[in-house]
Amino acid sequence: MQVKRKSYIKPFEKVLAMLELEAITHTKNVQQTGDDFYKVQTDTTEDVLLHRLAYWESAGEDVLKNTTQVLLENTSNLESDYIQLDFFQQTEKNLRQSRILRYGVHDLHEYRGKFFPQLVRACINISEVKKGAIVFDPFCGSGTTLCEARISGMKSIGIDLNPLSVLISKVKTTMLDSSKREIEDAYQQVQNLLHPKGLPYKIEDRWTQADRNYLIGWFAKEALEDIHQILCAIEQLRDTRMQNFFKLNLSNILRSISWQKESDLRVRKEVGSYLAGDAQKKFLEEARRQIKKISPYLEALYAFSMDTAEVIEDNTVTYVKKNTKYLGQCDVLITSPPYATSLPYLDTDRLSLLVLGLMHRSEFPQKNLQMVGNREISEKRRVELWNLYLERKSELTPQITELIEQIAAENHKPGVGFRRRNLPALLAKYFLDMLDSIRAADAMLKPGAKAFYVVGSNSTYVADEKIDIKTNQLLWDLARNVGWRQVNYIDMDMPVSRDVFRKHQGTSEAILIFEKGL
Ligand SMILES: C[S@@+](CC[C@H](N)C(=O)[O-])C[C@H]1O[C@@H](n2cnc3c(N)ncnc32)[C@H](O)[C@@H]1O
Repeated sequence: MQVKRKSYIKPFEKVLAMLELEAITHTKNVQQTGDDFYKVQTDTTEDVLLHRLAYWESAGEDVLKNTTQVLLENTSNLESDYIQLDFFQQTEKNLRQSRILRYGVHDLHEYRGKFFPQLVRACINISEVKKGAIVFDPFCGSGTTLCEARISGMKSIGIDLNPLSVLISKVKTTMLDSSKREIEDAYQQVQNLLHPKGLPYKIEDRWTQADRNYLIGWFAKEALEDIHQILCAIEQLRDTRMQNFFKLNLSNILRSISWQKESDLRVRKEVGSYLAGDAQKKFLEEARRQIKKISPYLEALYAFSMDTAEVIEDNTVTYVKKNTKYLGQCDVLITSPPYATSLPYLDTDRLSLLVLGLMHRSEFPQKNLQMVGNREISEKRRVELWNLYLERKSELTPQITELIEQIAAENHKPGVGFRRRNLPALLAKYFLDMLDSIRAADAMLKPGAKAFYVVGSNSTYVADEKIDIKTNQLLWDLARNVGWRQVNYIDMDMPVSRDVFRKHQGTSEAILIFEKGL
């Protein structure tokens, strides 16, 4: 069998490419015959290779045919109306020769910290799980793992504490079964229902007084009225799948009609003017753009046999303690957990969370505390966390406790600002939370199951000196405390030959592969 690797992928992806090929063909007997060309002796059929490979462009006994993966990626260049019936049979198609990371449902909603669909597919292949297996993501975010598991014919379970993540994951996983026709029909209905007369209820009844007071600080009064009108139209659709799809389209345009500065992760305000009707216009444009983009992808998925996805809104650690349903049932775990000093997920999503009624403003502090990698704490909470750390530090590794205490020795000195003073307690909480989440994951997995963690490192300044927080290496060792075997550590920032010096510049990401004991 001949196979051609994608020529434009990064060094770590080449490592994954080889691992997935060896796993699918059940052999290490792979011979290189050209720059990206390989030959492999295998009983695995051409169809299986074509359908499953993530980092390969083509495969074949005699003639090379394009893999399903490159064809799915290339649907992002097509317009549904022009899709060629023989698209999937073509071998000489002009494919885009670059990494395509946001195609199909993966571009439905922005989400910080998303990882790549191809990476998930490769991990599924490397894990060698069979169709019908259960893929688990304890920090599912926007649902990349869940979608790729479904497409690969696996069941998937995802947990996330952020209600917006849960909504995005639900929409992405359920849209995989919908057709262009259904979405177009729903769009027509929403468009027809978008009028100010006869709204089913008043704007005062949509949001609580406290939430409305907050929103009025971020939107013009007319903008909020328009948003209410759009939501009323969406809520009249009968199919909740479609309702949720359009809610995400609305969520995508909120920033552009709010007073929050665009392209700014921090929450900053710039009051401007608002033109009545702008929200409806932008919402419909966004919905059209999305429909145009996902339609060819959904058409391409038509013949795929998919399994179910379940999305759970909860704190991973407490969920696993309360529920026995999936204990010991999961065949593989693929996730990207929050980083040590992570993004303030809830705060950056707060306009969407409030507008869509997913959370009340009063619930933020409590939920923020449960977030792994949370950054905002009071002095009282800092002291509590530090005492908890002193009680539990023997559960962590010496590298982690040395790092925390090295930072504490400087940052606990009198006169240090509160952000720096909080850092040791926050890091301690992060590593204890991650330990608890690995224990929870261990309880969910079958004996011998593999776990893939994509993790990045951070750095901080302590007494004007830069210190690396090598979260990936620290978690690599920490997982041993739960009894997991270290299988493979894949550095995602492997330098290409020209930039060998970059490796020493600090932050880096890695894929950690573990195996639960038998
Ligand atoms: C890096 S993101 C995951 C992104 C995801 N891989 C994707 O492709 O979209 C980490 C996620 O962990 C979630 N999270 C943080 N603490 C959590 C907890 N205690 N339980 C469940 N989810 C949590 C955050 O809400 C965030 O969505």
